[in-house]
This record gives sequence, structure tokens and C-alpha cells, in this order.
Amino acid sequence: MQKNALIKLDEKEISCPVMVGTEGEMAIDARNLRRDSGYIFYDQGYGNTGSCESAITFLDGDNGVLRHRGYPIEQLAEQSEFAETAYLIIYGELPSAVQRKKFGQMLRENAAIDTQMMRIFDGFPRSAPPMGMLTSIVSSLAAYYPHLATNNFEKDLANFDLTAAMAISKIRTIVAGIFRYRHGLPFMHPKDIPFCDNFLHMMFSEPYKEYAAIPEVTRALNLLLLLHADHEQNCSTSTVRMVGSSGANLFTSLAAGICALSGPLHGGANSAVMQMLQTIHDEGDDGTRFIEAAKSGAKGNRLMGFGHAVYRNFDPRARIIGHACDVVLNKLGKSDPLLEIAHNLEQAALKDDYFISRKLYPNVDFYSGIIMRALGIPTELFTTMFAIGRSPGWIANWREVASNTKGRIYRPRQLYTGPVKRDYVPMAKRG
Ligand code: ACO
Repeated sequence: MQKNALIKLDEKEISCPVMVGTEGEMAIDARNLRRDSGYIFYDQGYGNTGSCESAITFLDGDNGVLRHRGYPIEQLAEQSEFAETAYLIIYGELPSAVQRKKFGQMLRENAAIDTQMMRIFDGFPRSAPPMGMLTSIVSSLAAYYPHLATNNFEKDLANFDLTAAMAISKIRTIVAGIFRYRHGLPFMHPKDIPFCDNFLHMMFSEPYKEYAAIPEVTRALNLLLLLHADHEQNCSTSTVRMVGSSGANLFTSLAAGICALSGPLHGGANSAVMQMLQTIHDEGDDGTRFIEAAKSGAKGNRLMGFGHAVYRNFDPRARIIGHACDVVLNKLGKSDPLLEIAHNLEQAALKDDYFISRKLYPNVDFYSGIIMRALGIPTELFTTMFAIGRSPGWIANWREVASNTKGRIYRPRQLYTGPVKRDYVPMAKRG
């Protein structure tokens, strides 16, 4: 039976239908509220607003639950690998052996960057921030492949399998290219090998010395990317949906998502964590000073890698990656003083009333930097790694928007707080 929510405003009762998701999540359908009452809901930052229906990822922040297309992240982390999870997220089902083979082949066939497009790299100073380079180069895909990026949903969806594979594979290749360019190293062309090994080859092969794959490193990279593959309506994914809702093609929408990811409160947090750990290490501190400063409440002093906009108990990805950190470093026979500092910081914060009362726990970024460091990925590239990992989620969300024939352009309202109407004052009469 249809449930309704009654909202009483100025002696008038407005009935809003209640919507229920497949996991029992409930929402009040307020789409007609303004039409029927003149009111809007005020929800700064959309923290309590459902902007869409989506069948991709279920997230229960209170209980630390994350599932892609119904599959728990713990099972995917244990049994799947990045390319397979990417397929699942984009297409809704785990691939058959034939589908998986074809998807892998498409990723390999679309890995290379057009020769002309490679020249874009030369336009950047060697010191250009990697995320700035990534957004520009990804947005240029729409210009290099205009026949696949027409800004017409019907036409763009007809080429979706190709553009999705191109996007995932090329974003990975571009990131490796950014690394090589910034270090003045020659570009390494992709080879006909699996996704993660291909990335490591493009990063670390030398002209006369091919990178030799190390299974533990490949596995760790797979896990890292898989854990980032999608995360419901976060800042960058909502950006992709918002830009996509205007009819923009996949590449352009992805570039917007990458811009959104670059901020320190979102994708930039992983490198901020490393900077924080490094500073603690360099100062010979045990982290006490950072914890005390973080408790001041000032945004600039936050303990990076702690807290999450939706997880209020624990971030399931942080548990997996925290454990993986120990395993990877062990297997590679490496020790990292920053890992020890991270463990100490975590223990101290988890005992501190400030963090307990605010339900602040380590998020995925707290340990992901340590894994990347162990793999030889420099800190400045961390957020671009996040972008490679998140690309399947962005693509799947763009596809939902593009396929929704009843969708409308994203257009929130606001509460205006500026001056009321006043008359124009000519320059001569202004004080
Ligand atoms: N360190 C210290 N205090 C914090 C932290 C932190 N990392 N995070 C939140 N708080 C405090 C706030 O100051 C606030 O305190 P108050 O109630 O006394 O005012 C309280 O905890 C609640 O914080 P909110 O701002 O409501 O949390 P919000 O949900 O808006 O922010 C965010 C979430 C942005 C992730 C925040 O926790 C943060 O800045 N963390 C550090 C950056 C970070 O690690 N980002 C990565 C997020 S995960 C990802 O993008 C993959």
C-alpha cells in the first residue's frame, strides 16, 4: 500500500508519497512540494537529499555496509579483481567467462593514446599538478573522438561499450603518461597484458629494461583500484551525474568528475594523509600534536584520513586496506615508518573522546597511501590513482542518467539571502 507523508504548512496539508528502496531505505518524494505549497526543502550540501534512484551501489554508513550491485565489498575484495568489478558495476552482473574475456580485450585494444593527443602533454610545464593535467587530457577525449561523444544520449549510448572501455583504459594510460612526463622519462606504450600489469609497465619499464610483474604488487594494485571503484552519490559521482544530466557526453562528464575529485576533502585526502604522516615523522613527533590540533575544530587542522560524510561507525574499505597494508609490506619485505605512525595515530584517536563522540574513524584514504608508496607510486600521483579506480562508478552513473528517458536536468533550488530589489545607481551618484 502506498504510504504518504503529510506536511502541514500554513494550515494546509501537503501529501507527499513515500518511496522505498530495495534495501528498505525510505524517502519522501518532494518533487511536487514547491508546486503544491511554494516551499522547498533546505539541505545545504544535499546531505539528506536523494538526488536520484540508482541500482549500482548500496551504502549503509551507520553499519559500515558497502555493496556493489548487491555484492558485499568484502567478497569482491577477496575474490574479484578490478576489471571484473568494473564490469559488474557498469553492466550490473558479474561477467561470464566470454564477457570477461571480451571486456579485457576491449580494455587492451583501447589503451593507447592517439599520437596527436600525446602532444597535449608537451603543453604543460613539467611541474604541472597531475590532477590538473588529468582533467584537461580526459576532457580532450571528447574533442579527439567527437563521433563517440556527440552530446546526444541515443547516439552516445549506441557506442557505450567502446567509450566505457576507452575511458577506463585511457585514464589509466594518461596517469602513467603524466608520471613519465613530469619525470622527463620517455612514454611507454601499453602492451597486450592485463590492466594492472599494463599500468605498472607504463609507469616503471625502462627503454632497455622491461618492468617484471610481481604478483603481490599486481594484487595490491588490483585491490586498491577495486576498493575505489564506486561509492554511491559522493561529490565527484554526483558531479558526473549533474554534468551528464545536461546531455553532456561520457568523456566530458568524467572530466568534471575528476575536477570534483581533486579537492582535499574528497580525492585529495590520500596525499594529504601522507603529507601529515611524513611531517609527524620528520618532526619526530608521535602524532599527539596533530591529534590535539585536530580537536580545535578548525577545518585546516583536521586529522586527514579520518571521518567520512556517510560512514559513522567504520569504513569497510579502510578495514580491508589497513589489513592489506600489513600483508603487502610483509610480502615485499618492506617496512615503512609511516605505517607505524599511522597505526599509532589510529590507536590514539580511537581512544580519544573527541573522535569517539563524533564517530570519526579512519577512512579508505588513511592506509591507501601507504600501499601506493610501497608500490613505488609517488604521492603527487595518489589522487589520479583514485580517479583510475573510480572511473567504473562514474561511467555506470553516467549511463544511468543517459538511459533514463524520464530524467531531467539537475537543477537544485536555493534560499536567496542577498539584497531585496533596489534601483540602479548611476556612477556619478555613487559615493
Ligand atoms: N579531524 C578532526 N575533526 C573532524 C574531522 C577530522 N578529520 N572530520 C570531522 N571532524 C569534526 C568536525 O569538526 C565536526 O566537529 P563539531 O561537531 O565539533 O563541529 C564533526 O567532526 C562533524 O564533522 P562534519 O564536518 O559534520 O563531517 P562531514 O560529514 O561534513 O565531513 C569529511 C566529512 C569531509 C570527510 C571530514 O570528516 C573531513 O574533513 N575528513 C578529513 C578529510 C578526509 O579524510 N577526507 C576523505 C574522505 S573519504 C573519501 O573521499 C574517499
